[in-house]
This record gives sequence, C-alpha cells and structure tokens, in this order.
Amino acid sequence: MTMSRALVSLVFILSLSSCCLPSLSSATSDGFLQCLWENIPSGLIYTQGAINFTDVLVSSIRNPRLFTNTTVRPLVIVTPTDVSHVQAAVRCGRANGVHLRVRSGGHDYEGLSYRSVRADEVFGVVDLANLRSITVSADAAAGPMSTAWVDSGATLGELYYKIAKNNPEVAFSAGICPTIGVGGHFSGGGIGMMMRRFGLSIDNVIDASLVNADGDLLNRATMGEDLFWAIRGGGGESFGIVVSWKVSLVKVPSTVTAFNIVRSVDQGAIDVLSKWQDVGPTLPNDITIRVIVQGQQATFQSLYLGRCSDLVPVLSTFFPELGMTSGDCLEMTWLQSAVFFNTWNLNVPVESLLSRGTSLSTFTKNKSDYVRRAIPKEAWKSIFPWLTMNGAGMIILEPHGGFIGAVPAGATPYPHRSGVLYNIQYIALWPTGSDGSAATRWISNLYEFMGQYVSKNPREAYVNYRDLDIGQNVVVDDITTFDSGEVWGDKYFAGNFRRLAAVKAAVDPTDFFRNEQSIPPQSMATKSCHSG
Ligand SMILES: Cc1cc2nc3c(=O)[nH]c(=O)nc-3n(C[C@H](O)[C@H](O)[C@H](O)COP(=O)(O)OP(=O)(O)OC[C@H]3O[C@@H](n4cnc5c(N)ncnc54)[C@H](O)[C@@H]3O)c2cc1C
Ligand SMILES: *[C@@H]1O[C@H](CO)[C@@H](O)[C@H](O)[C@H]1NC(C)=O
Ligand SMILES: *[C@@H]1O[C@H](CO)[C@@H](O)[C@H](O)[C@H]1NC(C)=O
Ligand SMILES: *[C@@H]1O[C@H](CO)[C@@H](O)[C@H](O)[C@H]1NC(C)=O
Repeated sequence: MTMSRALVSLVFILSLSSCCLPSLSSATSDGFLQCLWENIPSGLIYTQGAINFTDVLVSSIRNPRLFTNTTVRPLVIVTPTDVSHVQAAVRCGRANGVHLRVRSGGHDYEGLSYRSVRADEVFGVVDLANLRSITVSADAAAGPMSTAWVDSGATLGELYYKIAKNNPEVAFSAGICPTIGVGGHFSGGGIGMMMRRFGLSIDNVIDASLVNADGDLLNRATMGEDLFWAIRGGGGESFGIVVSWKVSLVKVPSTVTAFNIVRSVDQGAIDVLSKWQDVGPTLPNDITIRVIVQGQQATFQSLYLGRCSDLVPVLSTFFPELGMTSGDCLEMTWLQSAVFFNTWNLNVPVESLLSRGTSLSTFTKNKSDYVRRAIPKEAWKSIFPWLTMNGAGMIILEPHGGFIGAVPAGATPYPHRSGVLYNIQYIALWPTGSDGSAATRWISNLYEFMGQYVSKNPREAYVNYRDLDIGQNVVVDDITTFDSGEVWGDKYFAGNFRRLAAVKAAVDPTDFFRNEQSIPPQSMATKSCHSG
C-alpha cells in the first residue's frame, strides 16, 4: 500500500517534470528500459534500435496508412509470453512515468495500439500476440452452455477453429475478419453474423483476467462489477490490460445456410434496400442479412442458422422483394461459413482461419453511423450516385434488432441497442503509393451528407470502427480532460460515457492507460459539482 502510494506520487512528480523539461523524458525512458531488462527476458524486448524492431512493429499492422505515414512509434515493444511479464511492464511504466499501449490483433482503425498522432508522446507497447491460448471447457455436463477461456492475443479465426473442431455444433458470436484480435474486439463490442440471435461478443463474456494500473492481476470477483462492466465494450486501452476472457459458447446446427444475392440499381436495388431497412432488424433472430453497397450494386449477404428448405418460405413471406430462391442457398458447416463471409469463396479450407498474414497493399479510412429511422426511398436515390463518384469506396449495413436490441442500453457500455435498425460503415480505399485525397474527400463529404438521415444527439458511432475525426483527447496537467473526451465519448457510448469516466477515475486516476480516445478519469461527484 505504502509502496504503491509512493509510486503514484513518484509518477506524478516525474510526469509533471516531463511536461516542462523535455530533457527529463530520456532519463525516464532509460529507467523504464532498465526496469524492463531487469524483469523480463531480453529476447522479448525490442527497442527502437533493435535489428528486428520494425518486423515486430509491422507484424500485425492492418492498415499501411498508419505505418508508412509519419507517426510516432513506440520506444519499445514488449512481447510477453507470461502474465508476469505484462505485470512487470506495467510496474516499470508506472515507476518511470512512461505510458503503455496494448496491442492484441493490431486491427485498430487508427492504429492507436502501436502509434500516436501526438509528436511528444513517449510510450511503450505491450504486444500480446504470444499470449493466445484457448481452453474449451471439457465439462460434458455443461452441454450446450460450454465455456472457453481465450487469451487476448488469439485471433477470432483461431477461436472459431478451436471451438468448432472440438464440436461442430458449438460456435461463438463475433466479427467477420478472422485475423482480428480477441483483445481489442471484445473491448469494443464485437458485431457479427450471429449477433441478432446471440448478441455481441461482450454479451457472452462471463469473466476476465486483467492487469490493472498497479500491475495487479484481477478477475471478475476481485475487479468488481463496475470495472467488469467497463471492459466489456468501453473501448480498449482505458482500464488495464485484459489478458484473458471467459466466454459462453453457443449452440448452432450442424448445417447452416448462407447466400449472396446481388441486385443492381437497374434490377431494383433501391426498392429492395428500402424494404430491407424494416425487414432486416425484425426477421426471426436466426436470420441475419447484411448489405454491402459498392458501385451501383447491393449485395445482400446472409447467414441462417438452419437448412435452406426452412429459410426459403420465411423469406418469401417476410421479404418477397429480395426474390430469394433455393437456388441461392449454400449449405455448409458453421465453421465453413466463417471462411465464406471472409473470402466469399466456398473452396477455401477452414485452416485459412489460422493464418495471421497481413497485407499492406491497400490504404483505408472508415467511419460509422447508426440508423434509427428508415431512410426514405427518395433519399436512397440520392445516396447511390455517391458510390460512383471519383474516390468512391463502399458502405456496409449491419442489421441490429433481435437479441442485441433487447439488451438494455446500460447493460454494457455499447449503447446502440433498442430502436437501432442498423449500423452503417463507410469505407474509403486507395492503393498504396497513390494519392488518397479523392478517397478521403469522398468519405468526409459523404459522412457530412448522411448527417440528415442518421441518429442525432448524439450522432452515434461504433468504437471498434475508431475514427479520430470525431474527436481527440486533450491532456492538461498529464490527465485527459473530461470535456475533450465527451466530444467523441458521447458518440461511442451515449448515456454510458459518464459511468465509464467514473470507473476510470476509480481504477486509473493518474490516467496511465491512455491514448487519443481513451476514457478520461472523472468521478461523477466531481463532475456534477462543476456542471451543477
Ligand atoms: C479487416 C477488419 C474487419 C473488421 N470486422 C469487424 C467486424 O466484423 N465486427 C466488428 O465488431 N469489428 C470489426 N472490425 C473492427 C475490430 O473489431 C476492431 O478494430 C478491434 O478493436 C480490433 O481488435 P485488435 O485486438 O485486432 O486490435 P488492436 O489494434 O490490437 O487493439 C484495438 C484497441 O484495443 C486496445 N486493446 C487491444 N488489446 C487489448 C487488451 N488485451 N486489453 C485492453 N485493451 C486492448 C488497443 O490498445 C486499441 O486501443 C474489423 C476490423 C478490421 C481491420
Ligand atoms: C529477431 O532477430 C533475431 C536474431 O536475428 C531472431 O532470432 C528472431 O527470430 C527475430 N525475431 C523476430 C520476431 O523477427
Ligand atoms: C498523415 O498524417 C498526417 C498527420 O497526422 C495527416 O494530416 C495526413 O492526413 C495523413 N495522411 C494519410 C494518407 O493518412
Ligand atoms: C475498413 O473496413 C474494411 C472492411 O471491414 C477493412 O477491410 C479495413 O481494414 C477497415 N479500415 C481500417 C482503417 O482498418
């Protein structure tokens, strides 16, 4: 206790000094590196000067825009093989006033797990890629309610593969891209093809193990329900390093049905899409139809947890406009469907889910919205031409409703629940080396245009589709200000933002775990004094 209080005041003094005397920061970095070398095997520590620092840095980067563009890189990357290394890294950081960023799968849309946009930021990265074990409960009595512990450094593909190979009728509800890291994905929500039936990933997390800002290892019982609430959707980085998650697995049929139905504008895409807005969120929960709009085409992509023969009559009743027939059906195992939604190809082996390869060939910039009132057909007629403009990318619509819509908005930090029809993701793409100005102009203009049709006050956004355009933290006296966080925080978390800030104040009052969009520490009592 005395020790940790001493550390807190030491950190406070060091960080105060480093704000005013830049020369001190190299002294604190030396102390930090020294501490790492004393406590963690040197083979797991990569300083900026190390031969393969760049290889390790780039190993899970998904977005070359964030690597090739001039950005602030970490002082050091630590790749723990044991939880004790994570704890040591946190204690060394605290003792020397050097902040840490944590990386699991490296898919952050703004690269905040391994880079900063602030020129003066000095930080280390704890990269969890080596902590990736997955243990499925062998307890036969648990039956369909079986559980698994999955480490943050595992990928979604590894999780899917492991549980379905163990039992093809067991699955987990999470996102589509198999290389996504469990750590960041679960920290922000986890939307995917089964969320209307089983909820987001976070709705299925039942325990976690976390290293807090003091370097202590906590579980659900010892961290308490407020912190356990916050880490399930409050966004990565803010509350500590989640090392492992215990999840409830779900029961799926041995055969599921998928389809991709493409409709061009000439074939009535606008009518079908207009109708989809009401149907997609209200279909039986075991049917999910997402929509990918690119050029003058809408692709209706679906997963049904059952056989084709049962799906056809349901869609001809609820959604005849789609014109779906048994000829559209592709029957497969649930595990194959995970490959299919990623590759759009039935011939890719399920082992591809285990590949961690990265491709740095395309630059992208994404933004998101939520729609609570169906966009009128006339408006879609003015939205489609945007998809043919110079620099146009694509948009993806993910239906809500069902299980996700039934969870109260405050049950987890993810507030986009009852009343949400669907999420929109706007995607701009351009090849590496080319000038991205047309694409980036396209996405910001489209986002501005769409403002009239989407949720307002706040205009909602999904934290896992991180977008620094909607706001960035301001740090004053070495603490992120509540007001700067509220600007983007209301969009990601709506009414849950204040509770997140209060949890942050309770568990990390010195703001050790932070980035450009981390939750600011602000106890509710203090805030109501200021504003009341
Ligand atoms: C190609 C692609 C497809 C995607 N598809 C989907 C989808 O279908 N559904 C969906 O919901 N999302 C999707 N996403 C978004 C994805 O869920 C987020 O980018 C997610 O945060 C990535 O997690 P990560 O561990 O790979 O990322 P990282 O970059 O490692 O981390 C993301 C954030 O979480 C923090 N963090 C990471 N690990 C931890 C940890 N162990 N403890 C605490 N904080 C941590 C990081 O510091 C960072 O702030 C997609 C992203 C990409 C690039
Ligand atoms: C880093 O370089 C060393 C020495 O060349 C090598 O043994 C090690 O495998 C490399 N590590 C990575 C992650 O590239
Ligand atoms: C590169 O970074 C700068 C500064 O952060 C930013 O203004 C610019 O838009 C970035 N370029 C690309 C292609 O992302
Ligand atoms: C934007 O979304 C697409 C599709 O999910 C993804 O491939 C891409 O990596 C995302 N962009 C960023 C910046 O990660």
